[in-house]
Order: sequence, then structure tokens, then C-alpha cells
Amino acid sequence: MTMDDSTLSSEYPDIIQAACLPEDEKPELISLRPSRLSEYIGQAETVETLNIAIQAARLRRESLDHVLFHGPPGLGKTTLAHIIANEMDGSLTVTSGPALEKGGDLIGILTHLAKGDVLFVDEIHRIPKTVEEFLYPAMEDFAVDFVFDKGPHARSHRLRLEHFCLVGATTRVGLLSAPLRDRFGIFRSLDFYDEADLVRIATRSAALLASRIETDAARELARRSRGTPRIVNRLLKRVRDYAQVRAKGIITRSVVQSALKLEGIDEKGLTPLDRRYLKTILDFYGGGPVGIEAIAATLQEETDTLVDVVEPYLLKAGMLLRTSTGRRATQAAADHLCAAFGKDVLLD
Ligand code: ADE
Repeated sequence: MTMDDSTLSSEYPDIIQAACLPEDEKPELISLRPSRLSEYIGQAETVETLNIAIQAARLRRESLDHVLFHGPPGLGKTTLAHIIANEMDGSLTVTSGPALEKGGDLIGILTHLAKGDVLFVDEIHRIPKTVEEFLYPAMEDFAVDFVFDKGPHARSHRLRLEHFCLVGATTRVGLLSAPLRDRFGIFRSLDFYDEADLVRIATRSAALLASRIETDAARELARRSRGTPRIVNRLLKRVRDYAQVRAKGIITRSVVQSALKLEGIDEKGLTPLDRRYLKTILDFYGGGPVGIEAIAATLQEETDTLVDVVEPYLLKAGMLLRTSTGRRATQAAADHLCAAFGKDVLLD
């Protein structure tokens, strides 16, 4: 960036987020994040794609092609944006689709980017259409076009930008317009992590936190983390607290079980909201099919939260089906809830 971070973040306090905080004010979570591709665990094909693209761009002394990540929350989209900026020796600016309300918000950020910098736009599917139109020439030609006046007097002025890399992240790739999607040179979907990778992440994070974790405790934590590194790291901190206060600081399997019981996390890693969601389909709607709006209304939750946060893992775990007539809970969901709530939860 051409301007120091503190100046830029005071100018755009709502538009630019934590990346601009001084190192000692960043949330602790950042420090559990790997900062280099070589430290990144899981998503092997995505890491390989990025490794090749980054090495090639560096050899050619070019900026990296724009990158789009798709996938449920907590799987590493933001972490990978940080890593890309580090590997390209650029600064990272973080913003999100809903924060960019006007074209001027985006232009202000774009004109402050230096060559090789990375702009990360989270929830890029929520960028307003009027702002999105400024992105097209910015991504394709590294320019922004200003139009003055209307009709026959209209004149335009093109402002050159430095060659930057846009990293977009979305939980809903289907909501992205085709022109925007097509301007990304690299597109990767991130999938849930398997147990072995989550065990490695839990072990690495425990070491960074200077906590002792036994192997079967790491496995138990991994099994209950919904395939998601962010959840592993969050639960690890609760488990570490519990171990410190109740178990001489050592994280054993039984410490994990007791600490997660307090958190309302069950043997399969389902949260209270996951269970309420499934119980609603089973109890209120006879197992389904039922529309998402009806479930959201019954639970008094936002539809987006259910679609983006709750459903992806339940689908992956085989407890939910999405059919053309609505959502259906599976027998596996009914069996799991019977174990959790007793025998009164049954499918029709
Ligand atoms: N912490 C969070 N996600 C991680 C990952 N994919 N690899 C290593 N550490 C992590």
C-alpha cells in the first residue's frame, strides 16, 4: 500500500477490517493461522494450485491472477488470502461485499493499493451491483472509469491502478454474476476437512498455545469440530481453559468430553442450533419435506444463517437432504436425536 495502514483504516473504519490493526491488537485467532503455504494443513489440491500459480507469478514478476474461494465458513478462505499476500510480499486489505455500499468506497480502497498488494473481499456475492461494475475494469485492465455528465455530454476518465490481486470469498457461488465469476483466473471450492487433518491442526494449534494435548484427545476434538478448522481452534481454547482449571493443564480425552458437554457440543460435533434445526424438521414437519423459510420462521433464525452455517455440515454428515420439494431429515438424524433427546423424536 502507498499509505500507512492506520491512515487508511481511519478513513474507512467500517470498510476495512482487522488486517489493518497493529500486530499486537489482532485477534489471537490470527496467530493460530498458518502464514505460509508450507504450514497449511489440508485442501491439498488448492494448496498445490496456489503454490504453482504463486511461484510462476513471482518468476515473471507479475501479480497473481485474481482468486475466488467458495465454501462454508471457517474452512480457510481468509487464511489463504493472508497467505497469498505473505507469499507475494504484498500488503493485505480486507473488506466485505456488504461494507462496500457505494462505488466510492471501492475506488478509495483500489487507489491505495500498491503493486503486488492483495485485496480480500469476503462475502463477495453481497457486493451491490453498482459497486460490482467498478470491479470489472479494475480486475481486467487495472483501471477505474469515472463518468461525468449524462447523455450527449457524457465524458469518461480512466484512472490507472497498480497491478493488484483480488481474492474473493463466498459461501454462495451461485449468487455471483457470471461476468464477475468469469474474471477470476483461479477458482477453488474448499471442502470440509477430514479427521486426520483436523487432528494435525489441533496438535499444531495446541503447540502454538503451549498446551499439552494427548493424541486421543486431539482425535476426539477433531471428531467434534464439524470438519472445520475454525471450530477446532475455538473449541481447543475452551478445552484448554477447562484443563487448566480442572485437570492440571493436560488435555486428555475425558477433558475434551467434559469441556464440550459444557459447550453443548455432542458426540458428532452438533451444536444446540444444529439439533434444534433437525428437531424442528422432525417434530414440527414430520421429517419433511419442508421449505427453509418455514424452518427459519419456526426457529426464529435468519434463513442465511441456516443455509450458510447450519446446513452444509448436516448435508455432509448425511443427516439432511435437500430435495426439490424442501428439506428432509434422514434416519441418521432421527437416530442421533433419539440418542440425544430420548425416544420421542421419530420420522413419519
Ligand atoms: N489453522 C487453521 N486452519 C489451519 C490449516 N488449514 N492448517 C494449519 N493450521 C490451521
